[in-house]
Amino acid sequence: MKVGVPAEVKADEYRVALTPAGVRELVDAGHEVFVQSGAGAGSAISDEDYGAQGATIVPDADAVFGEALLIVKVKEPQPEEVARLAPRHTLFTYLHLAADGSLTRGLMESGATCIAYETVEDARGRLPLLAPMSEVAGKIATQAGAFMLEKPLGGRGILLGGVPGVAAANVMVIGGGVVGMNAAFIALGMEATVYVFDRSIDRLRELDIAFGGRADTCFATTLSIEQRLRDADLVIGAVLVHGARAPRVVTRAQLGMMKPHAVLVDVSIDQGGCFETSRPTTHSDPTYEVDGITHYCVTNMPGAVPITSTYALTNATMPYVLQLASRGVAAAIAANPGLRLGVNVSGGHVTYAPVADAVGVPCIAVDAAVG
Ligand SMILES: NC(=O)c1ccc[n+]([C@@H]2O[C@H](COP(=O)([O-])OP(=O)(O)OC[C@H]3O[C@@H](n4cnc5c(N)ncnc54)[C@H](O)[C@@H]3O)[C@@H](O)[C@H]2O)c1
Repeated sequence: MKVGVPAEVKADEYRVALTPAGVRELVDAGHEVFVQSGAGAGSAISDEDYGAQGATIVPDADAVFGEALLIVKVKEPQPEEVARLAPRHTLFTYLHLAADGSLTRGLMESGATCIAYETVEDARGRLPLLAPMSEVAGKIATQAGAFMLEKPLGGRGILLGGVPGVAAANVMVIGGGVVGMNAAFIALGMEATVYVFDRSIDRLRELDIAFGGRADTCFATTLSIEQRLRDADLVIGAVLVHGARAPRVVTRAQLGMMKPHAVLVDVSIDQGGCFETSRPTTHSDPTYEVDGITHYCVTNMPGAVPITSTYALTNATMPYVLQLASRGVAAAIAANPGLRLGVNVSGGHVTYAPVADAVGVPCIAVDAAVG
């Protein structure tokens, strides 16, 4: 199989979808790898590093898409990338389609098979290709929130951990999955007072044990969230319903109950955002204010720390890339039901029900679409 790695083109995105170790694994298994010149630069990986493991370096994205059948990326394709996709291609990357009808339609029109990292599941129903980036994003969420609480940046001017004799800040984490747990651990490490909300009692039990009583776990209801919002300095939104648009957990009306210049960090923004007032932002311009509340809604938070994120991501994706390259899509998804759940679009059809529901198009069975 010919595998292609284009440079990422989304704003402030410095990750790359394959490392030299991945090139070596693919080449040793008999595949050809085409890497766009400079694709690894943001993650401190040179063309020579790739070439030394057997990759062919090509000058531009047109050459990658022209040569390769399996395109491996990090972020959802941008319009110029969608235009390069054809029915012969399999695209393996983050897609987050439930929040983006126009991208979904573009991918349908391309005829390509598009497999979303974030809907691939493991044997226990977890999300193995979302988890490493959720670990990174959770840790960044608290760091970024602490920074944005500083007065010169428009924040309340409160130190997350307080000092002896002065109370710590109150941090609410809504959604106690991978992002939420990591965000809470960093907040606890900074000595904040931490409350974690989730709708799954089993998950709250796990978190209670993990935190060893140092954070409060709270069952998430409109009322329980509203009661705690009044005292919150930093609120981190980290809810997810697999593949679907993010549920809304804080409304615009509820902003009025909050302290002036408190900070909201919406990590779920890639699935459409979990605060009513959220809209996507970039690392270059990460925040805006609504009703006196700072909003931080960067859609590619792990892109800011590519030297960590590229390796964390590719450690997880590598086995799947090898399966797709060695078997082709149809045989790979027949052998791996969790990978089959990653197929969101194929042959002009949406094949993942939560995306079809969110975008308002029919859902076709994966096997019928992949053909
Ligand atoms: N912005 C970024 O750069 C970035 C990076 C990584 C992940 N993410 C996003 O972060 C979000 C969370 O990812 P994750 O890996 O932690 O997911 P996860 O599945 O591990 O956890 C989500 C949690 O939300 C809980 N939940 C669902 N609905 C809820 C509700 N209404 N109220 C309270 N809790 C609810 C679930 O029970 C679950 O525990 C996803 O949307 C993911 O795409 C964003």
